[in-house]
Amino acid sequence: MSSHLLSVDSLSRDAVDHLMRVAARMEPIAQRRKVTRVLEGAVLGNLFFEASTRTRVSFHAAFCRLGGSVCDTTGFTFSSMAKGESLYDTSRVMSGYCDAIVMRHPEQGSVAEFAKATNVPVINGGDGPGEHPSQALLDLYTIDKEFIRRGKTLAGAHVLLTGDLKYGRTVHSLIKLLSLYAPMRLTLVSPPGLEMPRHLIDLVASRGHRVETRESLASDFADVDVVYTTRIQKERFTAEMSEGFSLSRDYTVDKAFLDGRCSDHTIVMHPLPRDSRADANDLDVDLNGDPRLAIFRQTDNGIPVRMAIFATLLQVEDQVEQDLRDVRWFVPATVGVDDARD
Ligand code: NCD
Repeated sequence: MSSHLLSVDSLSRDAVDHLMRVAARMEPIAQRRKVTRVLEGAVLGNLFFEASTRTRVSFHAAFCRLGGSVCDTTGFTFSSMAKGESLYDTSRVMSGYCDAIVMRHPEQGSVAEFAKATNVPVINGGDGPGEHPSQALLDLYTIDKEFIRRGKTLAGAHVLLTGDLKYGRTVHSLIKLLSLYAPMRLTLVSPPGLEMPRHLIDLVASRGHRVETRESLASDFADVDVVYTTRIQKERFTAEMSEGFSLSRDYTVDKAFLDGRCSDHTIVMHPLPRDSRADANDLDVDLNGDPRLAIFRQTDNGIPVRMAIFATLLQVEDQVEQDLRDVRWFVPATVGVDDARD
């Protein structure tokens, strides 16, 4: 793995497999059974210039769970970028304060530009419609875990990606990451105008995967293993696109779709947030409590995976187990009220 995590492009299959193994070793800490201090004294700079809840907080929590501390800034208003400071200057300044930096920014390519000015590891927490590599890693980790429970393997899997495939950066990173694995079948369904960029389809196809595009969810998906649905990224629309746009109910993944067109073994994922406003037609809440809905197991997996990214970039992944202690505070058996106890 290179010294930054800016794009899935920099990851080899071996590097991804290594991260997955390190993440699995982080589980006792992520599940609050063990405590480590391996990053004691280290400081993370968490710079978020775009809206975020889970990415910002889970990077923060992951660094703390490794024993480090976090400094953060959110939005342009309270940062010196509002005074016209360049990415170069901000990057150099932050590097004097922090041992690792996570950055989210609305412009594609901006995090890579920021990383050029520093030798401190930088992680891309989302650069506009570009990429979101840590999300793709936690998505892959989730698929792998869910498949192991169901006795499946990635080889030959059928993955349906749906929603905003044009501006959704999570699916851009995920499709590249999946393409490093044994040939699988990828079906892409998006509303007109929000299709997966051509160069990504070509890349995946050139690696031997079968890619099909369909215009709607109104077909048989009984052999689909994973339905990965995404929010419409209206904040990235041009004024012309926004004019009169509304997502048809036909693109909604809900209980009727899953029961009628998929199978008992299909899992449903979403990077979240889902837009729960009545007219949004995003992933429906009627699947809450359904064991096929993997979205909260997916968000939970953000912690061990982001811990693995930090531990690997900061080269302490082999020292984590050396100073494990038992957790001393109260931890509920399941963190969510609807979580299944297995
Ligand atoms: C996504 C993002 O910001 O790209 N969320 C996330 O990080 N989990 C998806 C979205 O905003 O729709």
